[in-house]
Amino acid sequence: MGANAYFCSMTTAASKESAAGIKPFLKWAGGKTQLLPAIETKVQQLLRSKETIQFVEPFVGSGAVLFFMLRKYGRHIRQATINDVNPVLADCYRTIRYNPQELIKELSALEKDYFTYTSEDDRKAFFLEKRTAFNALAGDAVQKSALLLFLNKTCFNGLYRVNAKGNFNVPFGRYANPTICNAPVILANSEALQKVEILNTDFSEMEALIAPDTFFYLDPPYKPISATSSFNAYAKEGFGDADQERLKAFCDKVNAGGAYFVQSNSDNSDSEGNGFFQELYKGYNIEQVKAKRAINAKGSGRGAVFELLISNDDVLHVNSKP
Ligand SMILES: C[S@@+](CC[C@H](N)C(=O)[O-])C[C@H]1O[C@@H](n2cnc3c(N)ncnc32)[C@H](O)[C@@H]1O
Repeated sequence: MGANAYFCSMTTAASKESAAGIKPFLKWAGGKTQLLPAIETKVQQLLRSKETIQFVEPFVGSGAVLFFMLRKYGRHIRQATINDVNPVLADCYRTIRYNPQELIKELSALEKDYFTYTSEDDRKAFFLEKRTAFNALAGDAVQKSALLLFLNKTCFNGLYRVNAKGNFNVPFGRYANPTICNAPVILANSEALQKVEILNTDFSEMEALIAPDTFFYLDPPYKPISATSSFNAYAKEGFGDADQERLKAFCDKVNAGGAYFVQSNSDNSDSEGNGFFQELYKGYNIEQVKAKRAINAKGSGRGAVFELLISNDDVLHVNSKP
């Protein structure tokens, strides 16, 4: 093997390794790993007619779909924009993009301190101290992001929930040996995020990005299946039926602009297939997809549930016929 060939195989191996690290850095309610195959089918349909696309994710959360797209279809994405109304989350994406080394330094110090405590009571006291510090801290994005990652890996079920004052209030989680600082993932994500614009606003502001080569993946807080069943308190403002209707109006604009959308949401339909979303999205494609909810406070509630994938690919196809 010549020197150049050796160099190439080394760089291919290195880039494969860093591509494998492009994945969510947070646990987040509603992670979409289960729905990826169905979403990928939609992306592939779009890529049959377009060499490159713009990817927009207005409710990014932990970014299961974003990181999947960057990992697998990165070279087909000419521009990507992500958004979340949660300012701490948006700042954490920015910190990973712009200051990964400082973040790793802060987070590994927290990890080291945490593991100096061996009893559960001491670890819990440390967790509560850092939770108070997180809620009180303003203005230092690197430190706040490190605390967010620390709390996310050590709190109950990786939830992010805030009270009426906007304070993070998830209790301590009992994990024997949590991975708190995953430096290779932070570095691989930092590299992948270099071409991603990170916004922190309401989803409706993404309207400016509607263009015919654009793929919007929409994963709003789900409409609860029953009054008590679902968790959607990501932000103190909540996300009610009026917001679901605002989102439908947004989807109509995406469709009218010739862009593509895929939205996941809960399946509230009755045995005859009638429901809130079937009514709201009449005329669009609605598929039922089997998904396994990872986050549910009651263990008995885990298991297969159906979710909806609402999209406009057929609608656009029909509209594009002469
Ligand atoms: C279901 S989660 C997204 C889950 C994500 N797909 C994942 O893989 O983790 C919904 C996200 O929407 C955000 N959100 C809630 N209301 C919003 C709004 N009006 N505009 C933009 N984002 C919002 C929440 O902060 C939350 O992170």
